[in-house]
Amino acid sequence: MDEMVAVLDFGSQYAQLIARRIRELGVYCEILGHNISKDELYKMAPAAVVLSGGPASVLEQGHPVMDPRILDIGVPIFGICYGMQLLAVMLGGEVEKGRSGEYGPAGIDVINSKGIFHKLGDSLDVWMSHGDHVKVMPEGFHASASTYNCPAAAMEDNVRKIYGVQFHPEVVHTPKGKEILSNFLFHIAGCGHDWTMDRFIETSVAHLRKSIGNSNVICALSGGVDSSVVAALINRAVGSQMKAIFVDNGLLRNNEVDEIESIFTNDYPLDVHIVDAKEEFLSALAGVVDPERKRKIIGETFIRVFREEALKIKGARFLAQGTLYPDIIESRSAHGGPSSTIKSHHNVGGLPEYLGFELLEPLKELFKDEVRIIGRELGLPKKLLERKPFPGPGLAVRIIGDVTEGNLEVLRNADLIVKEEIRKYGKYDDIWQSFAVLLPVKSVGVMGDERTYANVIALRIVTSLDGMTADWVKLPYEILGKMSSRIINEVKGVNRVVYDISSKPPSTIEWE
Ligand code: XMP
Repeated sequence: MDEMVAVLDFGSQYAQLIARRIRELGVYCEILGHNISKDELYKMAPAAVVLSGGPASVLEQGHPVMDPRILDIGVPIFGICYGMQLLAVMLGGEVEKGRSGEYGPAGIDVINSKGIFHKLGDSLDVWMSHGDHVKVMPEGFHASASTYNCPAAAMEDNVRKIYGVQFHPEVVHTPKGKEILSNFLFHIAGCGHDWTMDRFIETSVAHLRKSIGNSNVICALSGGVDSSVVAALINRAVGSQMKAIFVDNGLLRNNEVDEIESIFTNDYPLDVHIVDAKEEFLSALAGVVDPERKRKIIGETFIRVFREEALKIKGARFLAQGTLYPDIIESRSAHGGPSSTIKSHHNVGGLPEYLGFELLEPLKELFKDEVRIIGRELGLPKKLLERKPFPGPGLAVRIIGDVTEGNLEVLRNADLIVKEEIRKYGKYDDIWQSFAVLLPVKSVGVMGDERTYANVIALRIVTSLDGMTADWVKLPYEILGKMSSRIINEVKGVNRVVYDISSKPPSTIEWE
């Protein structure tokens, strides 16, 4: 078992980022709830413990705490922001509300460059986001960095190997943040660099071979990155015992089914069963306009179609799914706190038990960027690994109102133009998603001497890091103009194009 660093999550929006940074440095890392007991943590034998930031204040009643015995766990501890303040009060120091909170960029002066600031110079730019700060450091600690407002911007006890920073080394706005984490992991905690994706592939393939034996595995291939990497990884382990099922629900974009078929026939041959279920989906959706009902119908139809196909495959014992680490963390935190369903996402949850299969989730320890690296190392084509997220219910949630063959045709043609123009613009990689939405309104226009009365297309083009928040892209007017005139001229049934300039929140990325 590889060395592991534990990140205790105190509710920070950055906890996942801390874990990703640590893994990027080549050390395996897991996010754990802040209330884990010392005994449980000890069993996991972490090489170091990191306490995340969080929105609470240690000066308020009921703030999140941790098992105090973890302070004596015997491995280095690093508290970030709230994590540092918690360390301070738990160890007998004092925290006070700052006269003015520090938010945003700040400069710190390094006082001791032997610990986490090893070889990083006398002053550093960092990113602050806090209201409180440590007023009196616990016994045994000294300040290793300070700012004008905050004499203990970082503190350390080199004997017990406990460190704290008031700022966020995990965000890109702290330019030397990775070096600070690196000092903690390698210089202080003595970790090795043994978390690499080729090692992951090697151990995962060995493990899969052992658990699969001579059985067959089936997998729902969507053409997205996660399911493709799952299929490729299992194929690497057991060859053609891996049977992929691709359901053509008729709600995909222009030419998409052919592209996927061609990839898995020519570029990366896999045993894929393509099921043409267009009619089944479209007739189930006829007349349905409510978005959640659309999702429900699509989910149920998918299960029915998939089941029929899966039962045709002899000797299948396992069903593989592309669950990722963030899904696991999110479902865990959803159990621990109030969560509201904003949109019920269509996936194949519950499917394995229903079909009597055993579940295989070979990517469940990985972040998305790691999955892409694995895909690359397995030799999946770039065009597949570059694919942007596309919702399971497909174009059905981009047609506001009734989903018909005619509406799908209009939307597909408009969407293709958006894609082509974004490609030409050259910023495809920086854009999270760009697509067209067909609105159920008709407006008056004039083409030649004719009055028209036709549909409206909305353009949705956003940047985002993880889909949780998003901003609309400030595209140059010429690009917007080109898209608009091409759509109106080339797509029959559209005479008006509008640009969606809403961010998420409060809007969502998809319109339904
Ligand atoms: P929203 O619209 O919630 O979208 O801001 C966030 C991200 O999730 C995708 N999305 C979905 N994906 N099934 C999916 O598999 C769905 O029902 C669904 N709804 C939204 C959306 O494309 C964006 O990337």
